[in-house]
Amino acid sequence: MPVEPKLNPLTLLAAKRRALSLPVYDLTVSNPDVAGFAWPREILAAALGGPGCERHQPDPFGNIEARTAIAAYYTQHGAAASPKHICLSASTSEAYTWWLRLLCESGDNVLVPEPAYPLISILAEISRVKIIPYRCEFKEGLWCVDPASLKPDAKTRAILAISPANPTGHTLSVADLKALRDAQKKAAPSCVLIVDEVFLDYPAAAFAAPSSVLAHKNLDPLIILSGLSKVTLTPQLKVGWSVLTGSSEWLQMILPQLEHHTDAFLSVNAPAQVALPFLLKEAPAYRAAVRARLDANEATLRAALVRLAGCELLPRQAGWSVVMRLPAGVDELSFALQALEEGACVHPGHYYDFASENCIVLSLLADPKDFGAGLDALIRALPRC
Ligand SMILES: Cc1ncc(COP(=O)(O)O)c(C=O)c1O
Repeated sequence: MPVEPKLNPLTLLAAKRRALSLPVYDLTVSNPDVAGFAWPREILAAALGGPGCERHQPDPFGNIEARTAIAAYYTQHGAAASPKHICLSASTSEAYTWWLRLLCESGDNVLVPEPAYPLISILAEISRVKIIPYRCEFKEGLWCVDPASLKPDAKTRAILAISPANPTGHTLSVADLKALRDAQKKAAPSCVLIVDEVFLDYPAAAFAAPSSVLAHKNLDPLIILSGLSKVTLTPQLKVGWSVLTGSSEWLQMILPQLEHHTDAFLSVNAPAQVALPFLLKEAPAYRAAVRARLDANEATLRAALVRLAGCELLPRQAGWSVVMRLPAGVDELSFALQALEEGACVHPGHYYDFASENCIVLSLLADPKDFGAGLDALIRALPRC
């Protein structure tokens, strides 16, 4: 069936302002290149043009040098991963789709977190897999999984989690992992816990760096997803990966199925695979610059709160965005539209299925000047709502 393009009132208003050459300070930006974090072209070109870029040596799981470099990345995160159990894909999104297709048959379901970046529901819809949401709630100053909302059944083939989450920054605690583990036991046999860790390298200054869920014992079977779009700030290279852990029986069953699937696509191009070890080695400096930007913009926002009466900033454990609660009675969509009339583009919380309707989401990635101008627009908008 043809899909109607979704033009929401915010997109329409932003387009109208741009057509009139009126400013739009984009506080939803998630593209590192647009935010000023592109790698220098010569460095990237040299990495992509390294030895092997000219050859087609297909390996369904990706070349071994790339997989070994990814295993080393997990060692730096306090976790052990075998290159043999790492599989490259052309983005994290593609890996999600493979897993939905490989693990689920008609009528099966997966549990997915809410609120969350609306990617998983779209991928599940494309893959014709039913999703059963479970809630993450903000309680006593932190986000946590609501164990009572996890409702696995005999058709539940996977439980998906995002840690750190987008947009809340929620990083799974030991109690959250226990709740997910308990749900896994009540689901279909060999139900897989799939954890998306694309934001693992972006802890906020006020919080300790999270370790990879891969470092936790007793989570079995487990698949970790990540990729270069956030880890090395190069979404244009289209590289993601899956790291698998589990019993030897499960691995013996799943690895050939995965290979059959990936062999049909061989979707990761040679230059990106050749560049990956170098990019992972050099990325910490680029990520540090992003973390400094995120922390600085967050501090600016916190300082502006005195002029945003009644607004509350929820703590950000990690990630590129922050959630702000609006004063009681202020509708998030009306506020977002008013903010855009004043020049700032923000996301209303319902884009991410927040339980309440008075949250907005702000990306902290924007250039500090644009971020400051955007905050001024929010300050002007609030009394008008
Ligand atoms: C939590 C999360 N996972 C995955 C992705 C997509 O990553 P990729 O570009 O590797 O498909 C995004 C995109 O922003 C994201 O926010």
